Amino acid sequence: MKLTAMAPECGVEVSGVELATCNDAQMQDIKNAIYEHGVAVFRDQEFTPEEHIAFAKRWGGIDINNYFPLNEAYPEIALVKKEPDQQTNIGGAWHTDHSYDQIPAMGSILVARVLPPAGGDTMWAHMGAAYDALPDDLKEEIEGLEAFHTADHVYKSDGLYAQTDQGKSLRGHDVDTGAVHPVVIRHPHTGRKLLYVNTAFTIHFVGQTREESLPLLSKLFAAALTKTNQCRLEWKPGTVAIWDNRTTWHNAINDYQGHAREMHRITLSGEAIAA
Ligand code: SIN
Repeated sequence: MKLTAMAPECGVEVSGVELATCNDAQMQDIKNAIYEHGVAVFRDQEFTPEEHIAFAKRWGGIDINNYFPLNEAYPEIALVKKEPDQQTNIGGAWHTDHSYDQIPAMGSILVARVLPPAGGDTMWAHMGAAYDALPDDLKEEIEGLEAFHTADHVYKSDGLYAQTDQGKSLRGHDVDTGAVHPVVIRHPHTGRKLLYVNTAFTIHFVGQTREESLPLLSKLFAAALTKTNQCRLEWKPGTVAIWDNRTTWHNAINDYQGHAREMHRITLSGEAIAA
C-alpha cells in the first residue's frame, strides 16, 4: 500500500489496495491513515453496493441517514444526489456531519456513481492543523469552552433546505437534534487536539447567547480554514473517499449546473468524544 499526501496537512491518496478484498492488516493501516490525515482517497475501485456495505460493517455500526433519500434496495446507502434541473446540491458549504448528535458519526464512505463532465469536486479541511495554527491567546480563550450544535435550522420543514429545490427529496423534517461538545476535542484514537466547531451546525457557546457567541465563533470559523490545511478531490469513476468527521470539515463544490451527480454514502457510527 502506498500513501501520497494530497496537501501539506490534509488528505492522503492510497494506492495498491482493493477496498472490497483488503485484509485485516491493510484495514488497520487504512483506518490509521484516515485518523491521521482526515480523509483517504482510493482510485479505480470495483465497489458494488454489497461490497460497500460489507466494507462499512468492518468499521463497526452503520448510521442510517435521517434526511437524505435512501437507496431502495440498500437502505444503509444514502443518496447524495443532484439532478440536472436542480440548482442546490447537498453539503455545498463547509460543515462536518453529525456534530448535532451527542455521539457524532465517525465518518463516511462516499462512492462516485454518476459524475458531471467537469466540476463537482469535494474539499476537506483538517481541524487538527487548524487548532495547531491558532494563536496562543485564542487557544487559551477556548480552553474548557463547550458549544451547542443542532441541525434543526437546516433540515426542519422551515429550515434552509426546505427553501431550496432539494427540499422535496429530503426527509426527517420532524427529527429534533441538539448536542453539547467541547470546543476542542481529542481524537479518540490519536489523541490529537481538534477544533470542534463548524459553520453549519454550531450555534452558540454554553452559557452564552447566539449574539454573545458570534464574535468568537466567527473568529474560529475563519481560523479553521488555513492555506495548508485543505485538500481538494477531483472525482473520477471508481473513486472512493473515506473521511473522519471529528478531524475534518468538508464542502461539496456546486459548480456543475445542468448536469447530474450521484454519490452513494454510508455513514459510520462513532464513539463518545471528549476534551
Ligand atoms: C456530503 O456528504 O456532505 C456531500 C459530499 C459530496 O457530495 O461530495
